Amino acid sequence: MVSTFLAARNPILFGPGVSKRTGTELRALGCKKVLVVFDKGVRAAGIVDRILSVIHEAGIETVCYDGVRPDPPDYTIEEAAAIGRAENVDGVVAVGGGSSLDTGKGVKVLLTNPSPISRYYLAHEDIRQDDGAMKPIVVIPTTAGTGSEATPGGVITDTKNNCKQNVPCATNLGIVDPELAIGLPQTVTVTTAADALCHAVEAFTSAEHNAISDVLAEKAIALIGANLPRAVQNGADAEAREGLQLAATLAGLSIMGPFCNVPHEIGLILGMIFHMPHGTACAMTLPEAMHFLAPVIPERVARVARLLGASLPADASAETIGTVARDTIATLYKTVGFPRLSGFAKSKEEVLAAVPAIMEAMPFHFSPRPVTAEDVSAVLAEAYDR
Ligand SMILES: [Fe+2]
Repeated sequence: MVSTFLAARNPILFGPGVSKRTGTELRALGCKKVLVVFDKGVRAAGIVDRILSVIHEAGIETVCYDGVRPDPPDYTIEEAAAIGRAENVDGVVAVGGGSSLDTGKGVKVLLTNPSPISRYYLAHEDIRQDDGAMKPIVVIPTTAGTGSEATPGGVITDTKNNCKQNVPCATNLGIVDPELAIGLPQTVTVTTAADALCHAVEAFTSAEHNAISDVLAEKAIALIGANLPRAVQNGADAEAREGLQLAATLAGLSIMGPFCNVPHEIGLILGMIFHMPHGTACAMTLPEAMHFLAPVIPERVARVARLLGASLPADASAETIGTVARDTIATLYKTVGFPRLSGFAKSKEEVLAAVPAIMEAMPFHFSPRPVTAEDVSAVLAEAYDR
């Protein structure tokens, strides 16, 4: 089998306590004054001050931008980049969840390329990406979810057209320190881990899955199944936090080639309509998507279920496999308190009214089974009734 795996060139430092090296790593990248981007919640949790102090200890000046917002709107990228240009910074540090990392990536592009950021959506216009011209970015995830440290792009909300856009941007270094996630609120732990679970499961069940991504995805799925309930039960469980953080990075890498399919494609539109966080929206239909895909890829769906602890007889039918996989993920969701679709929509009809918008926006290129409007309706109805 030929594998297409888009190996990222982003180096990643991983391990408990590794964020203490942020300052020395920035110095090694030649930085003297950096723009640090984050949201107010990460600062309130005390994480930003810890990072700022290790940067200052290395003799590097900092300028802060604390205006990161969920689903980063284009204007926040412009705001942060304007500060960076005015202060003549020579690097960016993004601290926080996926929104902070995506904001930082957009800012990196605008520090050496003219505004507006919309010029670079889907690489409409060439970006000066070569290392000599671009100023470096160091990304420090504080949630175990998006795996943005492993992917070469930032997702930005195009507020004019009310849709998500991707801006290509390589990171110069990811600093993944599981200790930063200790104390993360339970809901954030659950919904971000569910996003990582989707990345891994969707890569594994993608029409473009391959030998390299399979290894990464399988490990990530098993790690999340084993560690998410532990991290929810005890947010200070360092081993569980390390397992989840590793899973998020591996899951982020696993989609580099197979990309995401049904749950993310439905979730991206669902999230916009019902104002759901990315992880919540994308993971909302994961159980039902397994049920939907089982008839065409029963062995893969069975593997997902087994990695999450289900026992399935070797001769199980595709219907049984789909049902067991769906119920295994649904049980995990119940155990960890994953939100319900009925908490975001007034009725099932309201949810089903989103189907035309999903079908119009999403090509479902990477689904191993063709997806019709009726299929999406059935998946959403099943998820609503769960
Ligand atoms: Fe995602």
